[in-house]
Amino acid sequence: MARPASVYICQACGATAAKWSGKCDNCGEWNTLTQEALPAPVSGARGSSLPAGRATALTGLKGDEPEPQRIETGIAELDRVAGGGFVPGSGVLIGGDPGIGKSTLLLQAMARLAQKGHRVIYVSGEEAIAQIRLRASRLGVSDQPVLLASETNVSDILATLAEGGAPAVTVIDSVQTLWSPVVEAAPGTVSQLRAGAEALVRFAKQRGSTVLLVGHVTKDGQIAGPKVVEHMVDTVLYFEGDRGHQFRILRAVKNRFGPTDEIGVFEMSDKGLEEVADPSGILMAARDTESAGSAVFAGLEGTRPLLMEIQALVSPSTLATPRRAVVGWDQSRLAMILAVLEARAGISIGANDVYLNVVGGIRIREPAADLAVAAALISSMTGSPLPASAVMFGEVALSGSIRPVSQTAQRLKEAAKLGLDLAVIPAGSDAAAPKGMRLKQIGGVAELTAWAASLSAGNKRTD
Ligand code: TYD
Ligand code: MG
Repeated sequence: MARPASVYICQACGATAAKWSGKCDNCGEWNTLTQEALPAPVSGARGSSLPAGRATALTGLKGDEPEPQRIETGIAELDRVAGGGFVPGSGVLIGGDPGIGKSTLLLQAMARLAQKGHRVIYVSGEEAIAQIRLRASRLGVSDQPVLLASETNVSDILATLAEGGAPAVTVIDSVQTLWSPVVEAAPGTVSQLRAGAEALVRFAKQRGSTVLLVGHVTKDGQIAGPKVVEHMVDTVLYFEGDRGHQFRILRAVKNRFGPTDEIGVFEMSDKGLEEVADPSGILMAARDTESAGSAVFAGLEGTRPLLMEIQALVSPSTLATPRRAVVGWDQSRLAMILAVLEARAGISIGANDVYLNVVGGIRIREPAADLAVAAALISSMTGSPLPASAVMFGEVALSGSIRPVSQTAQRLKEAAKLGLDLAVIPAGSDAAAPKGMRLKQIGGVAELTAWAASLSAGNKRTD
């Protein structure tokens, strides 16, 4: 049977299909399938008879492998997310939306490494040398001995890296510009991306050098997304946050050499990205404590507790289908909380427009935020502010009960550190109150509503 000459490959997830269709069956993205030439069959692999192999020596789990040495950039937020610095011989993907600050962060990191005497190479396929120099002078790192190249051809990049001793760290900005003459596909396609990333990761393993691959997250499938290379690398970091917002968050989503879910917090300034060592403090300082609909949530990002403000606005709707707008949280989780409040506490928000916002451009992934969201919604609905010095966390179940969450003590400690003196937490939470803090244990959404009502009665009395 004749082999088809080409296949359709989803540029978002790398799935292949024999026929074109508008939507990728694998990841559900639209307009991401593009036609690419099929790689030539591997010789010797035809039919069922593989060439005879050689037996590999089997071994045990125990050995005296030393802990991998790490290359620390000195940017604490970056090193922590990487698991305590970059591991020599590893491949790292740094993904994120265009313009979020990937190039800026990596140029800053490379400058620090160069300053410490490491040989570092920054290969840009996106910007001309002049542009990078301009950025370096803005960042105040022009004097550091970072080696620059503007190149997109993978073979040329590998030849450059092989010359003059393997670099400690190489940045490839970005993988989507890589282009290999032996792959019959346009730059930016899945085939090119895979081939380029594979060659560079192989180089990293062979030479014990760290390769940092920058990958742009793309929405429209014009170029292949960084998901395609995630499985090839040891560590995957995503840089997220809104351009309009203060914070940029670097998050580890895969790490063969360290924990995931760890985050690093940065702020974009006119001198590049600055580390934010105490994001809770900044978020709490900017808070408006007088208005209804605001609740403080003590979240946990990796090993680090983070206080965040959740704002809700419930207002009468003029639409047949009321609006639900969520920034920084899960839309379906909001729908669930609204349904539970209605069914279990008799609060009917259904006919109102509901807006929910997590301040600072942070995205919450934990169900532990349920309680704070519910409290913010009730507060906005009743028009009565929650106590300014209260922090809350807990998971809301469909039954209306509020369940304990992990790391209660750590969350309470962070809140106490920032001067909050009341914690509204799930009944049955296993933690003692830090000094100077009162605990209010709540078992269900009905109890939460009653507590909120008692507050508003109290507010009126003191008026
Ligand atoms: P960039 O690092 O080029 O983003 P990416 O590589 O992820 O596409 O830059 C992000 C934005 O940051 C850019 O729009 C300009 C801005 N910026 C600053 O605000 N201050 C600075 O010092 C620099 C270098 C960039
Ligand atoms: Mg860039």
